[in-house]
Amino acid sequence: MGYKDQIDLTKLPQHIAIIMDGNGRWAKGKGKLRIFGHHNGVISVRDIVEGSVELGVKYLTLYTFSTENWNRPKLEVMAIMELLVSTIDKEINTFMENNVRLNAIGDLAMLPPKCYVELSRAIKTTSVNTGLVLTLALSYSSRKEIVNAAKQIAAKVCKGELKMEDIDEEVFENNLYTHDMPNPELLIRTSGEFRISNYLLWQIAYAELYFTPKLWPDFRREDLFEAILDYQKESAVLA
Ligand code: IPE
Ligand code: IPE
Ligand code: MG
Repeated sequence: MGYKDQIDLTKLPQHIAIIMDGNGRWAKGKGKLRIFGHHNGVISVRDIVEGSVELGVKYLTLYTFSTENWNRPKLEVMAIMELLVSTIDKEINTFMENNVRLNAIGDLAMLPPKCYVELSRAIKTTSVNTGLVLTLALSYSSRKEIVNAAKQIAAKVCKGELKMEDIDEEVFENNLYTHDMPNPELLIRTSGEFRISNYLLWQIAYAELYFTPKLWPDFRREDLFEAILDYQKESAVLA
């Protein structure tokens, strides 16, 4: 019996977040340039999106590019941005066919204009879809997101729109980029690193953490199903 058949579809995590790591090492292992790993990482993204749609997962949030990643060599950054534009362009039809709504979180103003335009177009086109919400964390930093929320709240207090004593966790969450989605119940990181790398720090307070040594370009829907099954076993112990 495959992993998929063992999954209890009534107890799926509503929101799965993934730190897609290991593209560079995967390419290096094959004697290729890092960008070759990023290109192959896109194949994994496609498979994981399809696997999520197949199961009926409601939210999938992928760590695609961190603010720290801007410090990588210029050529790699440029190649990733190009890849992003071409991938979104290619995938839009598949998103429409699969009822996937594209979303993005992060400091999107930092993106090259071409990338921002293409992304906004895809978000607008897919906004009519009601299935999986696929969120790309792009130029994303969780600490920045938290500081940004604090600033927004402070501004509301200054303007007299909000009283200081009314600030609570709910108000805070409403000012995060993720205000319109539930918190992830499952966080997956590939490539054998046991780090969170500034990802969804507030939101993963209660998430089950799943680490796998597989490098991202080798990660496929069977691996996702295995992670979900592991999550369900852990939740059953707690219940
Ligand atoms: C993850 O793979 C993709 C991005 C951060 C864009 P890496 O590029 O970090 O690959 P490794 O971790 O160096 O192998
Ligand atoms: C985290 O991976 C960011 C993404 C997957 C986009 P990194 O490879 O950039 O993180 P570190 O350097 O291992 O913390
Ligand atoms: Mg890495």
